[in-house]
Amino acid sequence: MRLFITLVFLISVVIVPQLALADPAKTIDELAAMYNTDKCGECHEDIHNEWKSSWHSKSIIDSRVIRVWRTFIVSGLDKKGIPRSMLKDICLPCHAPQTKDAAPEVSGAIADLVITAADDKDTAKREAALNELSKISVNCLICHNMKAVPGGGSQAKTIYGPKDPSAAAPHKEELGFETVKTDYLSQAKFCSECHHGCPPGMPSSLCPTLWTSYNEHYLTHGGTKTCQECHMQGKEYKAHKFPGIDEPEFAETGIDLVLNASATEFAYHLENKIVPAVLVNVKVKNVSGHGIPHG
Ligand code: HEC
Ligand code: HEC
Ligand code: HEC
Ligand code: HEC
Ligand code: HEC
Repeated sequence: MRLFITLVFLISVVIVPQLALADPAKTIDELAAMYNTDKCGECHEDIHNEWKSSWHSKSIIDSRVIRVWRTFIVSGLDKKGIPRSMLKDICLPCHAPQTKDAAPEVSGAIADLVITAADDKDTAKREAALNELSKISVNCLICHNMKAVPGGGSQAKTIYGPKDPSAAAPHKEELGFETVKTDYLSQAKFCSECHHGCPPGMPSSLCPTLWTSYNEHYLTHGGTKTCQECHMQGKEYKAHKFPGIDEPEFAETGIDLVLNASATEFAYHLENKIVPAVLVNVKVKNVSGHGIPHG
């Protein structure tokens, strides 16, 4: 009994201060308002446009994600009688991490909209559902606030950045946000917050993610770059387009292809003659930071 009381006490100590920070959002609109980044785009226009064209801004509405989620919900959760709101603990922590600040019914509503967006016969309804879902994504505040401190210790109303807070950053005056420097954003480990879905320490043989493959097959073979150094290359600042396999120019940089062709002759026994032939020696080397193609 004493243990039980102690546990209840400990749990209330841990939980109460967090709940006191903000009431959980009850609708998608309330949640979108808590994580609104329209203002960021007014000053950081180029970064905002790059992000908008990246997969991070489409982390739910990407048609691949919508279709796989539909199957997962209909053939997985529904068939086993698991409430759709469970999506909150299964897929949304990485695809829509803001749902941690929302009531479970918001995750249920997201799941219902996914089904409409994938399957409804009415085009207008499908588009309306996608429009609603597009309000939630991996946006500026997910990376520059929620995920910017290891272990989820970020402070409210704070923008974490990679540089010494520049005197020119007017976040306090314009938004009431502090600007705080963190080295974590420049480390590969930061990306593993979402690009690695297994418990820490699990090897790539059991859990082949980009993170395990980066550690075991790239770093151990002399690789020195971080995920950011390859995926955020920009002329004047760290670019936010996050190119992957769909960008041919970028994808090419991941493969060293050497073709050596030499002339030779081939004894064609069916017609009993010697014919000219070409001997091609192909060397393909993966010089990206992980296994390719992946995912
Ligand atoms: C997927 C995570 C992610 C998202 C989403 C994201 N950022 Fe970043 N951003 C980073 C990381 C990581 C860095 C630091 C990279 C480094 O230093 O290696 C960074 C750097 C920056 C910088 C400093 C750039 C420089 O080189 O001077 C600015 C400004 C910035 N982000 C603004 C934004 C804004 C505005 C948005 C939303 C439109 C946004 N970011 C969305 C991850 C993200
Ligand atoms: C009123 C204009 C303005 C608004 C609004 C604004 N920023 Fe900034 N921000 C700046 C300026 C100016 C700088 C300093 C120059 C730079 O790094 O681009 C800056 C710097 C940054 C940095 C780098 C800070 C560092 O020290 O590493 C990040 C990250 C950032 N902003 C993110 C955001 C995010 C996220 C939002 C929206 C929540 C936002 N900004 C809204 C103007 C603005
Ligand atoms: C909050 C979670 C989160 C963080 C942090 C994050 N990502 Fe992502 N990232 C995603 C999700 C989810 C997708 C898939 C979106 C989709 O398919 O629509 C994605 C997609 C991508 C893609 C495009 C994949 C493709 O299919 O082409 C690249 C590249 C990428 N991320 C790189 C990074 C790098 C590098 C970092 C660290 C600087 C990072 N991400 C941090 C969640 C995250
Ligand atoms: C640990 C974080 C995490 C969790 C949890 C997660 N995802 Fe993802 N997902 C990602 C990232 C990061 C990407 C982009 C990575 C890439 O392209 O390699 C992605 C990409 C995808 C894609 C598109 C890429 C493809 O290969 O087709 C689909 C579909 C997807 N996820 C579905 C799901 C479903 C369904 C769930 C829940 C059962 C889920 N995800 C849970 C992080 C996660
Ligand atoms: C040496 C450069 C380099 C490093 C380091 C690197 N990548 Fe990549 N990455 C690439 C290239 C090139 C591609 C495109 C080639 C491909 O996937 O076929 C790619 C593709 C991707 C993709 C999309 C396609 C896929 O295979 O799923 C994601 C997501 C991604 N990288 C994330 C990461 C993360 C997270 C890290 C750090 C743990 C990282 N990358 C480190 C070069 C790099």
